[in-house]
Amino acid sequence: MRLDGRVAVITGGGSGIGAATARAFAREGARVVIADIDETAGEAVAAEIAAELTATGATIDFLHADASDPTEIERVIGFATSTHGRLDVLHNNHVSFESGRVGDLTLEGFRRSLEVGLVSYWYAIKQALVPMVAAGRGSIVNTASVSGLAGDFGLGAYNVLKAGVVNLTRVTGIEYARKGVRCNAVCPGPIGTPPIERLHEAAPRIWSDIRDAIPMGRYGRAEEIANVVLFLASDESSFVTGSHIVADGGLWAHSGMPPIGGLGPDF
Ligand SMILES: NC(=O)c1ccc[n+]([C@@H]2O[C@H](COP(=O)([O-])OP(=O)(O)OC[C@H]3O[C@@H](n4cnc5c(N)ncnc54)[C@H](O)[C@@H]3O)[C@@H](O)[C@H]2O)c1
Repeated sequence: MRLDGRVAVITGGGSGIGAATARAFAREGARVVIADIDETAGEAVAAEIAAELTATGATIDFLHADASDPTEIERVIGFATSTHGRLDVLHNNHVSFESGRVGDLTLEGFRRSLEVGLVSYWYAIKQALVPMVAAGRGSIVNTASVSGLAGDFGLGAYNVLKAGVVNLTRVTGIEYARKGVRCNAVCPGPIGTPPIERLHEAAPRIWSDIRDAIPMGRYGRAEEIANVVLFLASDESSFVTGSHIVADGGLWAHSGMPPIGGLGPDF
């Protein structure tokens, strides 16, 4: 098993990509701690994984916690290390942010977006580095986004915080490379998780426009991102650090230029 006996903390593990990653980690033998502000969702995911645990030694715990609150993330990482005696993997994954054009974002909303989506990733990394550096090993995986590599109309705060996550990943990767701690990011494109399902309900036209902009012609599945996180968390990626992997059905590879002379993706 790829994470046999490893101890992993996943923030935002009550839904979408975080929940899929928790399932993948537990299947691969990890002792998983998920943290989420949504108590109902987090407990449901933990109960579902607990009922399906097949790997020997794998465990699942849910902690109701706000990962953007420093004392709460200290509690989560403290729980993992005191319960299991080690910390091998941190998956920073939670997010919330203000939408709107750059000129319409509010000072409070912009600051809060960076606080939740970027500052808290750094603070969790800072906490996780203590046991990881002491043990001389660890893997940190941040959920960034293709939205951290380029701009999206109406998502300025999100673009800025995810770009910060990409470079936080790089600097952490190089600074701790000789301490045995790796740090990488996954950059998903549009994935069919609950926020996208809500978009489907609220604005089906926008939902289908996004789908059609993806060269593969479909949304990704949370499991497809969890597989990338699993690779980055495991020893299979032992020479990969400070890096990011784009998993987006080809979206980011496209320059944005419309098809010329009808030479579009359908043929
Ligand atoms: N779905 C996509 O299309 C997509 C694309 C690119 C990147 N991402 C990134 O993937 C990550 C997960 O997104 P998702 O689509 O699975 O979303 P999701 O809404 O399904 O899951 C996010 C989880 O984070 C939790 N959360 C939010 N704030 C929190 C906090 N302060 N502390 C603890 N938990 C908190 C939520 O309760 C929720 O359970 C995010 O970082 C998001 O930016 C998603």
